[in-house]
This record gives sequence, structure tokens and C-alpha cells, in this order.
Amino acid sequence: MNSLLSITDIKDDVKDILDLASKIKAGEMEEKPLEGKTLAMIFEKSSTRTRVSFDVGMYQLGGRAIFLSSNDLQMGRGEPISDTAKVLSRFVDGIMIRAIRHSDVVELAKHSDVPVISGLTDLEHPCQALADMLTIKEHLGDWKGKKICFAGDGNNVCNSLLLIAPLLGMDISVACPKGYEPSEDILKTAREYADENNTQIVVSDDIGVALENVDVVYTDVWVSMGDEAEKAKREIDLAPFQVNMDLMSFANDGAIFMHCLPAVRGQEVSADVIDGPKSVVFDQAENRLHAQKAILYHYMKD
Ligand code: CP
Ligand code: NVA
Repeated sequence: MNSLLSITDIKDDVKDILDLASKIKAGEMEEKPLEGKTLAMIFEKSSTRTRVSFDVGMYQLGGRAIFLSSNDLQMGRGEPISDTAKVLSRFVDGIMIRAIRHSDVVELAKHSDVPVISGLTDLEHPCQALADMLTIKEHLGDWKGKKICFAGDGNNVCNSLLLIAPLLGMDISVACPKGYEPSEDILKTAREYADENNTQIVVSDDIGVALENVDVVYTDVWVSMGDEAEKAKREIDLAPFQVNMDLMSFANDGAIFMHCLPAVRGQEVSADVIDGPKSVVFDQAENRLHAQKAILYHYMKD
């Protein structure tokens, strides 16, 4: 089944999905294209943006969404993921899942007869990356020839940005301490995409190197969901990578600040940056809705 577990799954469709998202946002969309369709939404972790934007998105497209906490599902009591996939496929037209382990989402998709959309795993956050790219285009005019720097923990959000940036002609740098680099497998694929699209990828623990000629400065929490046991160590190791006014002064004039949210002010970003004029974080949050409506249409429309 055609599913969205990784940006690699939409390598050839990224631009079409983003064009559709812009059209949907501009109101250029047929009425109720997903009328009568149902999306199951499985959450193994907390969420504000993903949960609400998928629910509202399905409603606006004429369908409906069902929220399923893994604590309340039989899956949480040990029912195999494969059986859950087969059963849900008999009831619904699509499954969105936020999971602890990426491998569980792969297993779910393997046994599902309906499309599976990842709403974040420990490896990637593809819906976020699509919303981020829609936001960048709106603020910078185009992706081509622009550069984004991700500063901090080379996590799930960073991994999806590494894959999507070269596909759209953007250079990307990651500034992170040693030991916090992005996934090696993701980097290998991202470098292949960069070669195909003549873009650059830099990973460095030298923030000055990573910030050269940057149009977008992006950061995310130092302690992702599931990393809580390492909180104290992470706060020490990642402290030099805080995005503050000093760090922003190295970016290009007109550079924007991005964060997927939720944010911890005073840790990965200072309050004056995230609440300041360069910040586009609430546009990003809004664009989750428009980007995901395009994803739902792409995967669930007959
Ligand atoms: N950015 C994001 O995915 O937010 P939620 O955890 O609130 O869904
Ligand atoms: N990296 C964060 C993103 C939250 C939207 C996490 O996984 O918790």
C-alpha cells in the first residue's frame, strides 16, 4: 500500500503535494473531496498540532477522523500490530500514526490495506517537513538556492529536513555536538539526493561553519519525547547550540527563524528570538493543516 512513512516515500511527489497545499490554502479546492472517508489516528505519544490539524483537516475535506490512544487500544495490551492493521483496514480509509518506534509504523504499513501516514516516529517527521517547506516558500519566495541551518539535536525533525531540502534545491547544514549527529542512513540518502540536485549538505560541530550564508535557522527541543532519561546530560551538551540573538546575527539579512513546536524558551531558543520579528513558528503550525490536507487528498482521494 502507498504510504507516507518517510520523505523518501514522496521523493518524486514532494513538489506536487506542496503545490496542492498552496492551492488548498488559497481556497482552490473542490468541495468535500473525502466525503464519506474515515481516518483512524493512533497516538502512542502526546500531540497538540498533529492531532488537531489532522482532525480538522479531515473534517474540512468532508470526511471524519477517529482519535485512538494506544493506551485504550488492544494494541496497548499486546495485540499484534499486524492484526491491528488488518482490522482497521476493514473499517477505515486511512491510518495516521504517531509511534514510539519507526519499525512499528513500517510493520503497520506492511499489513495495512489502506494508506498509512506517519505523524512522527523516533526517526522522522515527514508531515512537519512538508509544512515547513510550504512556510519557507511563502516567506522566502522559493526554495532553490536558499540555505537552511538546523541547530541542536540531530533528531527526527532534522532527519526529515535533511531529506526534503535537497529535493527542493535547498542547501542544508546541521550544527550539533559530537554524538548528536543525524541518522547515518538518512544522511547517506540525503547526500544522494543532494548530488542529484546539485545542493550541499554540511554536518558540523562548529556552529560558525554551519551558519555561513544561511536564510533559515531552525531548531527543535533538546529532549524529544522518549529522551527524558538523558535530560540533564542533553541540557549541558546542547547548551552551546542555543539559537539566540547572537547566533541569529550570523545568518543572512532577512533570515527567518523556525521551530516545529512545542518549544522550551531559554533552552534550544531564547524568548527574544522565538517571539521576535524573524520568527515564523505560528505560520509553520498553521501550515500543518494545509500541508496535511494535501497529503490526505493525495493518499485517500479515489
Ligand atoms: N510539531 C508537532 O508535531 O507538534 P505536536 O507534537 O503538538 O503534534
Ligand atoms: N523532536 C520532537 C518533535 C516534537 C514535535 C520529539 O520527537 O519530541
